[in-house]
Amino acid sequence: MPKKPPDAAPAHKRRPRYPGTNPRAFHLKYKELNPGQYASEVRKILASGKTPAGMHLPIMVDEVLRCLAPAAGDVAVDCTLGGGGHARAILERVRPGGRLIGLDVDPLELPRTEAHLRAAGFGPECFAARQGNFAGLAQALAAEGVTSADIVIADLGVSSMQLDNPDRGFSYKGVGPLDMRMNPSRGEPASALIARMSDAQLARVLDENADEPHALLIAGLLKQQPLTTTQAAERVVRVGLTGARPAMSKADVKMSIRRTFQALRIAVNDEFAVLDALLRSLPRCLSPGGRVAIITFHSGEDRRVKKAFQAGYREGVYSDVADEVIRATKAETFANRRASSAKLRWAVRARD
Ligand SMILES: C[S@@+](CC[C@H](N)C(=O)[O-])C[C@H]1O[C@@H](n2cnc3c(N)ncnc32)[C@H](O)[C@@H]1O
Repeated sequence: MPKKPPDAAPAHKRRPRYPGTNPRAFHLKYKELNPGQYASEVRKILASGKTPAGMHLPIMVDEVLRCLAPAAGDVAVDCTLGGGGHARAILERVRPGGRLIGLDVDPLELPRTEAHLRAAGFGPECFAARQGNFAGLAQALAAEGVTSADIVIADLGVSSMQLDNPDRGFSYKGVGPLDMRMNPSRGEPASALIARMSDAQLARVLDENADEPHALLIAGLLKQQPLTTTQAAERVVRVGLTGARPAMSKADVKMSIRRTFQALRIAVNDEFAVLDALLRSLPRCLSPGGRVAIITFHSGEDRRVKKAFQAGYREGVYSDVADEVIRATKAETFANRRASSAKLRWAVRARD
């Protein structure tokens, strides 16, 4: 057999063959999960206006930087580190002399993001990754020996890594447990929440968290049988809604399913209560002149941020706040569909 010359490039290694029929495992299904090896696939997917599986594209980075104006020496906190896109852009601007504390409630993705940012050259002198809920922002700062921050960013909701991984149970695109916990070691999964709640309580969750017009009907459907997978929950709502409301279009049924999943996720992670806690703690966590930017993805969140900033402005806590919500450009929305529902608001802490 001819020998390979010693300086030849290593032979191309095939991806392990998919061993079964159905369902296909997440890590075998998408080449883009290994972007180093499949860079051209990743480029093709991005050019088509889709987000590669497992890759989070940070939203409105330029707009966020304009609001936060990070400068060398600033102390910054990213309350929702996610894949580290916003954090990286801020870190590049607060050096030399500045630092960023990255918080995320997710213990599974946090070490990966920390490793990426370390590999990109951000050492412990300027970057710390900490697992925690931003509801405890003041305590997280105290634990780092920081009294207040010059910059705070929160980019709410879930990351593409969380959404695209069926094992996390956020999406019905793959088969996965009906879980939806951002921190899988705390609280109850969505399946347990549905089982514990009455029809009326569940309907209230769907109505209050996602303005779902068919809340009572969907609550009844979800309670008909124990549900353990995301796909079972999707099917129950789709089939039940189509049967009970034959005039509904497929697109409207799809919207109701999306709102149902959103409402359940908000309830499982207590998202409104933790956002309220963050908004309450911001005035004492920001330095005089400090800037905060918050990106929200639905009206329930945006309303809370708007009200808290406006109330702070009236009380003199903030010297300036966003008059209008900032939206992603058309070009960004085309390149990243998740940007289409994003709304950015900002505020500046008064100098007392
Ligand atoms: C939209 S992603 C953030 C993406 C990030 N800005 C980036 O550029 O990659 C939202 C992240 O916030 C985290 N998260 C959501 N709620 C949280 C909370 N209450 N406390 C801390 N992290 C939270 C999620 O686990 C997720 O990783």
